[in-house]
Amino acid sequence: MSARLEPCVSIDFDSSALDEVVTKTKDWALMHGVCMRSRQNFSPDSINFAPFVLVPSTFPKKEFEKAIELQTLVNEMIYRIANNYEFLKTTLAITNTVDPFTAQLFKIYTTVQEEGVSQEECCGGLFRCDYMLDRDAVRQVEINTIASSFAGICTRVTRLHRFVMQELGHGDKLQQLPENNALEALCGGMLKAWEIYNQPQAVILFIVEDITYNICDQRFHEFEIRKQNPNVRVVRRSLTQLGRGGAVLDAERKLIIDGQEVAVVYFRCGYAPDQYPSADGCEWDARLMIERSKAIKCPSISYHLAGTKKVQQVLAEPGFLERIFDDAEKVAKLRDVFTGLYSLDLNEEGDRAAEMAIENPEKYVLKPQREGGGNNVYGKEVAEVLKQLKDNPERASYILMDIIQPPLLRNWMIRPSTQPMLVDTLSELGIFGVIIGNSKEILHNSMGGHMLRTKIHTANEGGVAAGLGALDSPFLVDL
Ligand SMILES: Nc1ncnc2c1ncn2[C@@H]1O[C@H](COP(=O)(O)OP(=O)(O)O)[C@@H](O)[C@H]1O
Ligand SMILES: [Mg+2]
Repeated sequence: MSARLEPCVSIDFDSSALDEVVTKTKDWALMHGVCMRSRQNFSPDSINFAPFVLVPSTFPKKEFEKAIELQTLVNEMIYRIANNYEFLKTTLAITNTVDPFTAQLFKIYTTVQEEGVSQEECCGGLFRCDYMLDRDAVRQVEINTIASSFAGICTRVTRLHRFVMQELGHGDKLQQLPENNALEALCGGMLKAWEIYNQPQAVILFIVEDITYNICDQRFHEFEIRKQNPNVRVVRRSLTQLGRGGAVLDAERKLIIDGQEVAVVYFRCGYAPDQYPSADGCEWDARLMIERSKAIKCPSISYHLAGTKKVQQVLAEPGFLERIFDDAEKVAKLRDVFTGLYSLDLNEEGDRAAEMAIENPEKYVLKPQREGGGNNVYGKEVAEVLKQLKDNPERASYILMDIIQPPLLRNWMIRPSTQPMLVDTLSELGIFGVIIGNSKEILHNSMGGHMLRTKIHTANEGGVAAGLGALDSPFLVDL
């Protein structure tokens, strides 16, 4: 039996009260950009409200604060491993032999390393560290180091929930909904990088998909940059456009698009194989050109690789954190949020982990080296896949993780073109982080706000765009 949290307020509405608050809140969402483009009825001229839960989800204050407080340390951990070429090389060596996508990223990384990167050159990290509650303590699910999304919309969801609480007569409880400055923090990070680049005419380049469904989230970033610094232009391009002649690198390694110098490159795309679709590899050419350039990359390919699942598993190995931090207190704090992670390399240790999961598949999640949701293996299938992979070198590109079992919480899930559904949900908390540094030193390190995503408890994964997830915000309680 899973544990259960109580809703923050009563959610037993009669049908007319429910209809009133839901209709009004949907309009609030539409009018404040808590929205996405529809995949089913796509039109570049319209948006739907994004799925959300009606009231904020109860969340233990102590654990929320723990995750917030930890973020600068998480940033520093990623910074340290991203700047450790030998570590990344050793850790990803096996993955690279069986996973062509990671191998291709790694090849670009090696190429640029061997060409020599100046120690003064900065990289930017705009991270989101995801957690779930395991009974009553937060445990890290993963650290996103590229295209960490929802900082834009989630700041609006915090406001949407403030509005709903007032509508429901609970305006006295607003102090339990924490402030959220995720958008300001991430855009502030990009502008800091822009200032470090120090070229007043230069633009910020967003690398985007051919069709962007999560358009409001991206545009909020664009508009916030203009708001914080009216002199800075944002330009959007796909990797395909850049690879087909849309960008050049000049003799001084300046990245130029349409005659404009690029100061900062912000990736909202480029983390999945299908985002490099062309047979001639033009998207890979573009990625290499960007990496070679002196523009400040958010992220550089080293930060991208530092966010791989294999790296996450190695970080959790006994004694590893001690090698990157000489401060025992820091190590203890980081380790405290890790859950069981196991290598599946083709050796005795990997065989032991595979056997353990074949015996009790429900206790584990099997993760291939992929990002972006929908790739993991759960339940009985964990055993089936591991049996198939026996003695297959490909097994080493997967990692095994203890399943985290968050408490359930009843809430109304509101989705476009669907009646409100009263369901048991569970949540995933994301904490954003911003770091800017070069290989010698960290120039900026900060926590950058939060997001909450909530899914129906029977769904393995809760992608908001994919279907079973919804946007949410935390309602903090002392448990
Ligand atoms: N250890 C775990 N226990 C329970 N659910 C998990 C676990 N790891 C991942 N998940 C679920 O799967 C989703 C995707 O996994 P994640 O590691 O975040 O990969 P991705 O890079 O695809 O986002 C998570 O958002 C979460 O809902
Ligand atoms: Mg994830």
